[in-house]
Amino acid sequence: MNLLGIETSCDETAAAVVAEGRVVRSSVVSSQIDLHARYGGVVPEIAGRAHVELLMPAVAEALAGAGIERPDAVAATYGPGLIGSLLVGLSAAKALAMSWDVPFVGVNHLEGHLFAPVIEEPALEWPLVVLLVSGGHTLLVLAKGPGHYRLLGQTIDDAAGEAFDKVARFLGLGYPGGPAIDRVAKEGDPTAFRLPRALMDGGYDFSFSGLKTAVVRTVERHPEAATADLAASFQAAVVDVLVAKAAKAVRDLGAAGLCLGGGVAANSLLRARAPEAVDVPTYVPSLAMCTDNAAMVAAAGAWRLANDGPSPLSLGPDPNLAFPATP
Ligand code: KG4
Ligand code: ZN
Repeated sequence: MNLLGIETSCDETAAAVVAEGRVVRSSVVSSQIDLHARYGGVVPEIAGRAHVELLMPAVAEALAGAGIERPDAVAATYGPGLIGSLLVGLSAAKALAMSWDVPFVGVNHLEGHLFAPVIEEPALEWPLVVLLVSGGHTLLVLAKGPGHYRLLGQTIDDAAGEAFDKVARFLGLGYPGGPAIDRVAKEGDPTAFRLPRALMDGGYDFSFSGLKTAVVRTVERHPEAATADLAASFQAAVVDVLVAKAAKAVRDLGAAGLCLGGGVAANSLLRARAPEAVDVPTYVPSLAMCTDNAAMVAAAGAWRLANDGPSPLSLGPDPNLAFPATP
């Protein structure tokens, strides 16, 4: 079964064809980074308009890449995300499903990220602790299997990627901030400044807004500080907390594996440190599978279609769609 997945929740316009729920036949991602970079962040109105222009060419390329003219089902992200952006992908997916007379299924973007290891790791062992860290979310999840998730903790203020983006902007490193800090930090000393590690003893929730403020205060006190040292010290503080909490969850819950996901999982320090912190297999998705893409949406959509059946065509976008935790 070939399923066409569509992802337009933020600033990537993506389409992919996935067979049998996990074999990626094609995956097209049109990044809008260049359109938003000069504003220092994603401009929702520009993102929505760009999706309208970029989506159908991406769909055509994904179908051609998979060598098919018509898929057997269509999936699209319906939340969480930017309302105008979600609306474009969701409307297109429903219209295509109707015109091809195939089932349509709506996908929770966060569940999409959880399917990255399902695509990439044939020998995946459950239960998995998943650290899902992106521009909009910081979640620690116990995944007992596809569709069975317990939310262990989340951020109480900024998302991890949001902290990277805000600190990068403050340091004049541009947008998107995560890759810029990752690059510059390689030249810096991570012990140059002692920055706070919030909520280290406090369960599985995260907090990053105090760390961002601490970087600002440090620059006020040390105007001569090297940007590379600040970036390296900041990155070390974020990664220390992420890794400590994920490793604690693996130990406490006896998980069979640890998995990273979301855009911040592209961070080189996090990718290096996470496997060292646990003695179970660590699944670190490829860079393309960490950041937003439609293959993960197609894989999640295939599982949902098989388990819950198609979604109604009345399904609307939900910008604040909650994480799909199961009791
Ligand atoms: O998952 P994603 O592509 O989009 C969202 O759903 O948010 O994540 C984007 C986030 C941005 O905040 C970006 O700065 C961050 O992931 N990011 C990184 C790196 N690459 C992307 N953060 C730290 N290090 C990186 N190498
Ligand atoms: Zn995402």
